[in-house]
Amino acid sequence: MKIIAVANQKGGCGKTTTAINLAACLGKKEQRVLLLDLDPQAHASLGFGVYSDDARDLYDVFTGEVKLEDIIIPDVFAGVDVVPATMTLAAAEHLPVRSDARDHQLKIHLAGIRHRYDYAVIDCPPSMGLLSLNALMVADLVLIPIEMSLFGLNGIDYMYETIRRLGERHGRKISIRVVPTLVDSRTRLCRQFLHEVGERFADDVSSVMVQFTVRLKEAVRQGVPIIAYDPTSTVTVQYLRLADELMSSLPGQSQTESKHEHAAHVAGMKHAFEEARARINTSDARQKVTLRLFGYASRDVQIAGDFNDWTPDRGVITRTAGDDVEKILMLAPGTYQYRYIVDGVWQEDPSNPEQLQNFSGGFNSILHVEEQHEEISA
Ligand SMILES: Nc1ncnc2c1ncn2[C@@H]1O[C@H](COP(=O)(O)OP(=O)(O)OP(=O)(O)O)[C@@H](O)[C@H]1O
Ligand SMILES: [Mg+2]
Repeated sequence: MKIIAVANQKGGCGKTTTAINLAACLGKKEQRVLLLDLDPQAHASLGFGVYSDDARDLYDVFTGEVKLEDIIIPDVFAGVDVVPATMTLAAAEHLPVRSDARDHQLKIHLAGIRHRYDYAVIDCPPSMGLLSLNALMVADLVLIPIEMSLFGLNGIDYMYETIRRLGERHGRKISIRVVPTLVDSRTRLCRQFLHEVGERFADDVSSVMVQFTVRLKEAVRQGVPIIAYDPTSTVTVQYLRLADELMSSLPGQSQTESKHEHAAHVAGMKHAFEEARARINTSDARQKVTLRLFGYASRDVQIAGDFNDWTPDRGVITRTAGDDVEKILMLAPGTYQYRYIVDGVWQEDPSNPEQLQNFSGGFNSILHVEEQHEEISA
């Protein structure tokens, strides 16, 4: 069984729509498919018309109450079985199991049924929490739908880095495939984003893009995939082509980026956001915050955090002061997480003892910005 995780921490970019329709198209191509709804919003279960408030879901599996095979709903669509979700799945983010097994739960439970299916398609929630981590841990390929709108690329660098580190830590390669979604190529902005996505992600970009169409919303409302609702529509053809592409590339060469490629992505990302940044109004409530890295003046230092959607140096001014590098940020009061990228390598702030373990095994540094805070030096 090959496992495809459809993931992007950004909400509303077409993950669920892609998971449902990819699963249905793989099923149509006579593959045996298991769709796993890993999002407490349960939109994939709804989209396949199998949502039920009192269904058992993966939370009950992870806590050992039921077996995975006992909650599979068979033959939801030609060739497709579904593991449904309910709201209670949100509790799985706080699993009461040994911490080193928390991120392996899905892998452990899928092991017994791998032989039954050709593909598993996992619909991830719009966050990089424990549920998504469980999916990434088991995925052969991560499919990242990117919405062709102004903030469609937010957080993608962080996801890329997370996937790369996970693969490295566990000695395996996780392929990445980026799929442009909600594409309306009549607009100039969309065409520009398509171009940028093509340049930035190069070989990781799917040859398929998914057009914007109200037919997809109508199909969801009916609880059926688009291939059943409108078999001849353009998006049906696009999802069938995506299924073909994935069938031929799995198992494929890993497309996990190297450090060099990562640096190129970072450069592309900066360029992609220059225009977008110019449109963003800055809030008056923001304060100037200076972070200083002692003795790093000769190094290439960038900073990324939740304040800039983990996009290195986005919205940041860099200065050197003697041997030190200063990063100047404009931030509203609050608590932030960040990491430095030194000569292309992500790391925590060596001079800031306050850290939080992130789910890829490293540490994020913590930054508190108080009201009326003028300047800090971490
Ligand atoms: N190609 C498309 N054309 C038109 N509407 C679309 C398309 N893809 C998705 N949508 C609509 O956009 C909305 C968000 O899509 P979807 O639920 O698939 O995103 P998501 O990434 O799963 O969201 P979440 O992050 O909340 O899980 C839905 O209303 C969906 O019907
Ligand atoms: Mg979704």
